[in-house]
Amino acid sequence: MKIDVVTIFPEYLAPLQLSLLGKAQDQGILDINVHDLRSKAIDNHHAVDDTPYGGGAGMVMLPEIWGQALDPLMNQDSDLIILTPAGKRFDQSMAAKFSQVSHLVFACGRYEGIDDRVRMHYEENNYRVHEVSIGDYVLGGGEVAALVMIEAITRLIPGVLGNPQSLEQESHNDEGYLEYPNFTKPAQWRDLQVPEVLLSGNHKEIEKWRAEQAAERAKKNR
Ligand code: ADE
Repeated sequence: MKIDVVTIFPEYLAPLQLSLLGKAQDQGILDINVHDLRSKAIDNHHAVDDTPYGGGAGMVMLPEIWGQALDPLMNQDSDLIILTPAGKRFDQSMAAKFSQVSHLVFACGRYEGIDDRVRMHYEENNYRVHEVSIGDYVLGGGEVAALVMIEAITRLIPGVLGNPQSLEQESHNDEGYLEYPNFTKPAQWRDLQVPEVLLSGNHKEIEKWRAEQAAERAKKNR
């Protein structure tokens, strides 16, 4: 999968080089490139934003600069993701859908967002455009949201995870994130014992116990 990220803070995306994502790039499974939006700035001050028409607080990012940054990246295979708290809420099923595509372009807005004609332009020209939010809270910009999405999406791509069995286990329930609790050595820690059933070797009983625990957790936390 090819991933392009456009931002005025390329350094924010440095973690993409670490850990499993870094390895997947070395292996050629992922091709991730981060682009500095400010390099497309036109005026002497390298401005990327201006005041909103109609008044109001904050600044809006300039459409021409976004157009210059996105035009060379977009093609028929591209899905453009515009990060905004007003977008559709990101979840595991959206991650699964995006893990199937060949090219993702992330547009990280700052301030009061990107001039809406950028979305309109690419939609009108028949590109696939998605406004996405990672949750109902307001971040300083889309960079952290892009990191979250890229991690959740790419770990579903074959070869990215160190141990693909982890994925298989997650997909046993519809919502992979509602997992049962886990324990490791030692069997007793402080005054706490690992549940007896997990030491029993009875795989049927273990599976049943884990399903119950996952359901209980979901009831308590969701
Ligand atoms: N930019 C600011 N807040 C955001 C959020 N919650 N999701 C995506 N992009 C954002």
